[in-house]
Amino acid sequence: MSLKSNYRDGDSFTRRSKKEGYRSRASYKLKELLQTDIQLLKGDSVLDLGSFPGGWSQVASEIVGKSGKVAAIDIQSMEHIEGCFFLKKSIEEVSEIDFEEIKDFLPFDLVLSDMAPNISGIRDRDDALMMELVDKTLQVVDELLKTKGSTLIKVFQGESLDYTRDALSVRFNKVKISKPKASRSNSKEIYIIGKELKKYE
Ligand SMILES: C[S@@+](CC[C@H](N)C(=O)[O-])C[C@H]1O[C@@H](n2cnc3c(N)ncnc32)[C@H](O)[C@@H]1O
Repeated sequence: MSLKSNYRDGDSFTRRSKKEGYRSRASYKLKELLQTDIQLLKGDSVLDLGSFPGGWSQVASEIVGKSGKVAAIDIQSMEHIEGCFFLKKSIEEVSEIDFEEIKDFLPFDLVLSDMAPNISGIRDRDDALMMELVDKTLQVVDELLKTKGSTLIKVFQGESLDYTRDALSVRFNKVKISKPKASRSNSKEIYIIGKELKKYE
């Protein structure tokens, strides 16, 4: 596929997100993954790591409804989404105590991470930074995801994908890799899904 057609693909998702009221074209990545790879139900609780500007939180909030809860975290301020609990902080500082206000919704049914480091273009460095974010996400998964719960984590194709697949295989009964259509084909990003967390509460 040529760069030109990639650009057109991406652009159509951007146009669609504006028309349909989503804050980012990333919304369509999550929508597709929720149709094909992970289940999210009304009443579920979701933790959205790296949530700004809020496209994924919007999609998750629509599905879980008022009986569920979306908790979102980012180092950047995020405009309010109805029913969504937002924390402006780095994942490195997150702990269970931050969710005292919504403790009735813990542990979470689903932990999402669309976080990415600032890309330098140096592959080893970018992979190392991505793996640091994955490690933090896994700590959160270990502490705050319910048994049988699921996770969806963005990584880069290459070392961080292999690293994350191994780490999820230890924890989850099912692991799957997916590249949604809304993800530009010339982007290194890829999504990895862990289903049915093995640990006991
Ligand atoms: C691709 S954007 C997420 C887009 C979002 N999923 C959406 O649908 O709108 C990645 C986000 O990860 C956040 N991020 C990167 N490192 C982080 C960290 N250490 N802690 C929390 N958020 C972080 C960035 O600030 C950025 O907003």
